[in-house]
Amino acid sequence: MNEENYARRRQKLAVLMKEGVSVIAAASQKIRSNDTEHPYRQNSDFYYLCGFEEDNALLCIVKEAQKSKTILFVQSKNEEMELWSGVRLGVEAAKEHFQVDEVYSIDVFEVQMKEILKEHNTLFLELFREDEHYTKVKQIAADLMHSRGVKRSPREFKDITVLTQQMRLLKDDEEIVLIKKALAITKEAHHQAMAQCEANMMEYALQAEYEYHFLKNGADSESYTTIVAGGNSANTLHYIKNDQSLKDGDLVLIDAGCEFQMYASDITRTFPVNGRFTKPQKELYEMVLAVQLKVIEAIAPGMTKNRLQELAETLLCEGMILFGILHGEKTKLIEEKAHKKYFPHGIGHWMGLDVHDPLPYVDDRGDEITFQPGMVLTVEPGIYIRKDDLNVPQEYRGIGIRIEDNILVTAEGCTNLSKDIAKTASEIEARCNNY
Ligand code: GLY
Ligand code: MN
Ligand code: MN
Repeated sequence: MNEENYARRRQKLAVLMKEGVSVIAAASQKIRSNDTEHPYRQNSDFYYLCGFEEDNALLCIVKEAQKSKTILFVQSKNEEMELWSGVRLGVEAAKEHFQVDEVYSIDVFEVQMKEILKEHNTLFLELFREDEHYTKVKQIAADLMHSRGVKRSPREFKDITVLTQQMRLLKDDEEIVLIKKALAITKEAHHQAMAQCEANMMEYALQAEYEYHFLKNGADSESYTTIVAGGNSANTLHYIKNDQSLKDGDLVLIDAGCEFQMYASDITRTFPVNGRFTKPQKELYEMVLAVQLKVIEAIAPGMTKNRLQELAETLLCEGMILFGILHGEKTKLIEEKAHKKYFPHGIGHWMGLDVHDPLPYVDDRGDEITFQPGMVLTVEPGIYIRKDDLNVPQEYRGIGIRIEDNILVTAEGCTNLSKDIAKTASEIEARCNNY
């Protein structure tokens, strides 16, 4: 991502702030076990605004009526520390690299912050995230409030994520390029898995195929823990144990996507372990696929997520009646939400820097946000029938199916960014059987 783009985002944020000081902290390191850390992953909002990948850093935007200033605090160079945990950019190189007004060492942030905060009434930070830097910033504000001779200090704390989320809803062209790159890698991983899968393989072995493929092709990591759910395990929505063997005649549901330069992909495919759908599996699969295609077709500017949800639920309910999974009159079943037993989750979610981008579905007035070009969401209908559900015809018991793609809203309607990943029953069987 080029530096002008980050600078533009900071300017836009400054306009939204109107007046005040915002402070956004880098993610902190997370301990995994004694003396070892989880792989570091930057805070999405911090990254969105400056693209800096190191921890122990702060971005501060100071906005006055007509002007704004950006200050970055970074770790100083330190040979001994860098020997253990890698090269730091340092203050001087950060000044060269980032198009910010000032760069200081994080070691002096408290002194600097005190000078900045005593000129302002409003402080924006991530109000609902615990971070030691935020604790210190709030303490500085409290100390200023009680200091003699200080005329102003922040009394009003606002949540910066209300503004960053508003911005992150609309993806720019560079973000779309990165999501497409993530999807290109994810596509190959799904196709490889279809080709490699065979009866008696362990679920974790198939998981390893994905993660091998992700890393080998330059992805940062998976966007979320890979789900490889054979047979009835697919009815556990977030099944991540992945420790069973895949059985001949079962389906396997794989929800897997890589993260590439911080951007997510989130794809589910469900395919037969032995490469051939049975008749009942194919009936339900094609029903879910038809629903998914109709929901995607309905995506266009002006649409809302609730209306997509209603459409998906109505169509799935009709399918459930058709295959004798639900009995009764459609309107009544929908009213009673009978279909929820077999489709208990949402039709999709925003996606971007986070796999579940934490962006709003309603605006400040409580009205639903309507789709606009540049928004990216998943569409993931499914049907989940437990093997012990005696209310359902026997041939469908133990089947769990989800089909998930990543969709960009465009001026004309939408583009399915993952349309090249095998999805029809015949495309899947061809991939599974290597022809
Ligand atoms: N992979 C999580 C989801 O589909 O939302
Ligand atoms: Mn998913
Ligand atoms: Mn999803």
